[in-house]
Amino acid sequence: MSQTFDVIVIGAGPGGYIAAIRAAQLGFKVACIDEWKNAAGGPAPGGTCTNVGCIPSKALLQSSEHFEHAQHHFAEHGISTGTVKMDVAKMIARKDAVVKQNNDGILYLFKKNKVSFFHGRGSFARAFEGGYEIAVAGDKPETLVGKQVIVATGSNPRALPGVAFDEVHVLSNDGALRMGAVPKKLAVIGSGVIGLEMGSVWRRLGAEVTILEGLPTFLGAVDEQIAKEAKKAFDKQGLKIELGVKVGEVKTGKKGVSIAYTDAKGEGKLLEADKLIVSIGRVPNTNGLNAEAVGLKLDERGAIVVDDECRTNLPGVWAVGDVVRGPMLAHKAEEEGVAVAERIAGQHGHVNFNTIPWVIYTSPEIAWVGRTEQQLKADGVAYKAGTFPFLANGRARALGDTTGMVKFLADAKTDEILGVHIVGPMASELIAEAVVAMEFKASAEDIARICHAHPSLSEATKEAALAVDKRTLNF
Ligand code: FAD
Ligand code: NAI
Repeated sequence: MSQTFDVIVIGAGPGGYIAAIRAAQLGFKVACIDEWKNAAGGPAPGGTCTNVGCIPSKALLQSSEHFEHAQHHFAEHGISTGTVKMDVAKMIARKDAVVKQNNDGILYLFKKNKVSFFHGRGSFARAFEGGYEIAVAGDKPETLVGKQVIVATGSNPRALPGVAFDEVHVLSNDGALRMGAVPKKLAVIGSGVIGLEMGSVWRRLGAEVTILEGLPTFLGAVDEQIAKEAKKAFDKQGLKIELGVKVGEVKTGKKGVSIAYTDAKGEGKLLEADKLIVSIGRVPNTNGLNAEAVGLKLDERGAIVVDDECRTNLPGVWAVGDVVRGPMLAHKAEEEGVAVAERIAGQHGHVNFNTIPWVIYTSPEIAWVGRTEQQLKADGVAYKAGTFPFLANGRARALGDTTGMVKFLADAKTDEILGVHIVGPMASELIAEAVVAMEFKASAEDIARICHAHPSLSEATKEAALAVDKRTLNF
């Protein structure tokens, strides 16, 4: 006998598990299906983000940052340590434990909210008047029936054409997060978010890292001034980034991997490394969903086609997160999940795409919300800009981390904040104030007139807002 639900969610990543919890809070009978297996073959809900994405990468970034600080920065505080060593196996085990805490946390939340969890692959079996039959292929095959279905099946790493991930020499994010030893030489293709975060981890641990980027500009989506400042910091750290390259043949052998490429000047080169991380973007994942059985429409990239409210072409079928258009970010997936659950309940769920923050968790961190200066210019918007360097911030000096700045962009006439861009310490946390401000349609003057604690990094935000009107107090 098949079990019947009001809402069936396929995928328990940030989009799916949050949608399931919110739907249950709204009084629906909810099932959530996820196929991810932990090392023991058991369930590991949380998707890419929890298992091989946001959480483990931040755990390794933290460990490697401690290592770097102990090696290079403790001395200036008068702390002597002797030789600092890194036990990579222990670092990876700690990362795995952090992941498991998150997996267990989600299973607990499912129980608490009375969401029925099914471990296995969910696929469309058939559509009928008023609902869908979903097959679960797992340890215990089941058929579920649901009135509404939310697809949150995420994304997979994009491979270089003809170069499959073997996770030994050619690594995706998965392999990059579980190397057993620090490679002497690490090559990375793609200087996007993963390339920079993973490149930073292994560089801090002692690898010689070279990142090959196809585009001639560094971090093209980031405000140019901020990207330039970040590049300066990465160069100083010894993270080698070659822009404007064309990657050719990639060969793997017993010793490692060799990458033939043409550099920006058109010169042929060969990069040899022990390992290669390929981080050239991700592709929406609908593998095994059997979308064709019910006529679920996909676009040419394989993403599920949805409208602004995450409705697919099928009545009662919704899709959220990486498997649909828009930025591939966990918090974007979560917001869409909440909004869809609320729409199913007849409420007015809402996601503001203009105020989704971006963070790159390197050192310095890079964070932004809203439009960049180059976008405003392209859109023909008259704007005012204000910047404030962390060098002039007392807390940053006390922390010993004065790289970077906060930059405000405000409408020339109305002073409404159009974008905030930060490169520097704790940018990931500082950006939240800018998100709130933009969500409330604040002006730069609003932030400039709010009392910020002293000494705090957030004073740089206030000062950058003052800078829009050329009235910084501390610079
Ligand atoms: P996913 O998290 O991919 O989850 C999809 C789930 O669906 C998976 O568990 C999968 O097993 C399951 N599934 C798929 N098909 C089926 C099926 N047919 N049946 C059953 N289950 C199925 N984003 C951030 O915002 N901040 C970060 O710091 C960040 N860091 C990242 C670091 C790395 C290395 C990577 C790779 C990504 C990072 N991201 C980050 C992006 C983030 O992980 C994704 O945007 C997010 O996970 C998308 O959530 P989702 O729910 O759409 O999909
Ligand atoms: P990305 O889109 O951030 O960067 C890919 C980079 O590879 C781009 O700079 C692109 O120009 C380059 N590239 C593409 N093809 C190439 C080729 N053939 N040769 C050389 N360079 C090439 O993608 P990435 O880093 O793989 O990450 C995927 C997604 O995961 C991100 O876009 C982001 O949505 C998410 N993510 C988010 C994080 C965060 O929020 N902190 C952290 C990590 C990932």
